[in-house]
Parts: sequence; structure tokens; C-alpha cells
Amino acid sequence: MLNKKSRSKRVVPRKRLIIFVPLPGEENYKPFFILSRFINDEEGILLENKTKEIKKEIVSELNRVKDLKDIEKLRVEYLGRKGVVTLLLRKLGILSPEERPKAGQLLNQTKREIEDLLKTKEVEIEKLEKEKRLQGEGIDITLPGRKIDKGAIHPINLVLKEIEEIFLSLGFKIEEGPEVELDYYNFEALNIPKDHPARDDQDSFYISREILLRTHTSPVEIRVMEKQLPPIRIIATGKCYRRDAADSTHSPMFHQIEGLAVDKDITFGDLKGVLTFFVHKMFGKDRKVRFRPGYFPFTEPSAEVDVSCLLCQGKGCSACGYSGWLEIMGAGETDPAVFKMVGYDPEKYSGFAFGMGAERIAMLKYGINDIRLFFENDLRFLKQF
Ligand code: DAH
Repeated sequence: MLNKKSRSKRVVPRKRLIIFVPLPGEENYKPFFILSRFINDEEGILLENKTKEIKKEIVSELNRVKDLKDIEKLRVEYLGRKGVVTLLLRKLGILSPEERPKAGQLLNQTKREIEDLLKTKEVEIEKLEKEKRLQGEGIDITLPGRKIDKGAIHPINLVLKEIEEIFLSLGFKIEEGPEVELDYYNFEALNIPKDHPARDDQDSFYISREILLRTHTSPVEIRVMEKQLPPIRIIATGKCYRRDAADSTHSPMFHQIEGLAVDKDITFGDLKGVLTFFVHKMFGKDRKVRFRPGYFPFTEPSAEVDVSCLLCQGKGCSACGYSGWLEIMGAGETDPAVFKMVGYDPEKYSGFAFGMGAERIAMLKYGINDIRLFFENDLRFLKQF
């Protein structure tokens, strides 16, 4: 700040003019001279000395700075309205017009240098503060992590997928049919007329007299044959429904896999070959396969297909009723009556079909003893797959 006394002494020739400027942080004012003709003479060097002194001062001050607020304080002290450099700049007017540009240049240069120093420090402090903040927000690796629950594929879907893959590898195609089905496709066209006793085993949920929830996937066979001529090699998977009370081996909703192959000269030998291949792929090469005579209205001859017990290796245990065998599906040569229903000539074509329950296969494969586990959605069970 200008010393008032010195102002009143403006009578002093310019050459000897004294300006008092406080140095930042100093209690007492330190006299400082701006003298005319400061270039190349002793007095002129004083302004240069002063600016050097100011710069040295701010550098040491900046070393002590702790935060952005300190920097702001310094900015005010040096470059603010009453700052050291500003006051000096204001005093330029007292110099002669020839001296003014040189002194102005020197002071403006100093000002820019101070601005740069402040800016550099500011950036440095900001970076440090940001680092500190980030460290504070960082992950505390000493805390146990929160577990993210992963979904898994349902065991029934796993089995369906696996079965599909096996038959796809044999050249079968995948077909679909409706779950809400016509009585005609579910029974009639499969050689199960209205009064047929086979209907007793497959009571369903009826929407109307002619529409029901399908009791098996066999109606897809009819829908496919109606649409196309042989050769046919298809499998169809999906949900089926029966009016059964739920217990460890029954569920009113379950899944089936249907298979159908129709061509010229298809024999029971083809059926045996395909299903044996399937069993070996699904349960392992050391499984034995047995074709037991059976009855289905839509196949002739018909068979129940058994696989040697996985638990006792065929020796006999409680799981297989001490027979050494487990039943896994029904199968047979397509009945000529079925071919007639879809307009195929039974003299020209022959075929085989099979049908199995996905739950039964999954229970055998994974050693599950209660079908209800598949549908209770208990995560402790589902998480195991
Ligand atoms: N649809 C029969 C059922 O649900 C299973 C079946 C047996 C399907 C023999 C077939 C077959 O295609 O040939 O009990």
C-alpha cells in the first residue's frame, strides 16, 4: 500500500521517488523504489530486484500451501486489487512516458509468471485432493465381498437340451406342437377312439369336449405327418398334462420327448439301433438296453424300453425293484391304422416312434428321488445344476 506520507512528498523529483510496498506476510512495510532511468543504472535494477524478490517470496509461500484456499489467499495477496504486483502496476503512472513501457513489461511479465506459478500449484493440489478423495472412496478389500447370485439352467431344460443334441446328431429335426390340443390329435388320430380303455390312463384337463391339455407329445407325430410326406425324422419336446395327484413319481404337469421316423423299409432293427445309441450317449456306454413287449394303440409291435440299473449295475437294488432294470420309455413300429389316418400308404411306408418323460430321465441321470423337486423352485435344489 502506498505510504500516504510519500504521496504528500511528490515534490521529490521523479528520480528519487520512493514507493512503499508491503511484502506479503510482513508486518512492516518495506521500502521499495521505482526510479526513473532504472535501466542500466543502479536505481533501475531495483525494480528488477523487487520483482525477483516477489517471485522468490511466492515460490517459498507456495511450498507451504496446503489447499486451494491457501492458493486463493496468495492470489489475492499478489494479484488482487490491493496485491503487491497490482500496486506496483498502478504506480507506473509516475514514471516518465519513456520509462513506462519497459517497467510495464517487466511487471506484466512478473504478473504472468506469478499466475503460472499459482496455476501449476493449483493443478498439483487438485490432483492430490482428487487422489485423496478416490482413496477414501476406494474398495475396502478387507470386507468380504457381496455374493452375486448366478442363475442356472433348470435340470429339465438341461436334459431336454442334451436329448435334442443327441437326436440332432442323428439327423432328426426338432418340431413343436400346441399344449392345448384337439381330442382328435391327442387320441383319435393315434388310434385311441372315444371308448378306448387307453384313455383311462391319460385323463386330462378339458377345455371343452373336444379341446384338452395334451397328455403326451405323440399328437405332434400326427401334425407333422399331415403336413408332409416321408422321409420323416423328427423329435418333439414339451409340456404335457394329466389329471394325476402329485406324488414322488407323478406330477400333473411334466415334459416328454417324442420321436418319429418314417420312410420306406424302416424296421424294428432301426428303432433298436437308434435307441441303443441314445441310451449309450445319455447314460454311458456300459449301460445295457432291453426291449420288453408292451402295448400302445398307435404302435404295433410295441415295446417298453429298459436300461440296466445305474445304481446297482443290473444286480438288483431297491431303486430298480430288485429287477436290475429301469423303464425309460415306450416305443414301437407305427401302427398302419395311424398311417391311414394321415393318408400314408402303410404298404409303402413303415416307421418307428418312441416317447419318454424328461423328468424320469433327469431323475435317473442325477439320482433324484422325488419328481416334485423339479417344480418346487427350492433354490437349494436348483443351485446344484
Ligand atoms: N405317448 C406315450 C405315453 O405318453 C409314450 C409313447 C409310447 C410314445 C410309444 C410313442 C410310442 O411314440 O411309440 O405314454
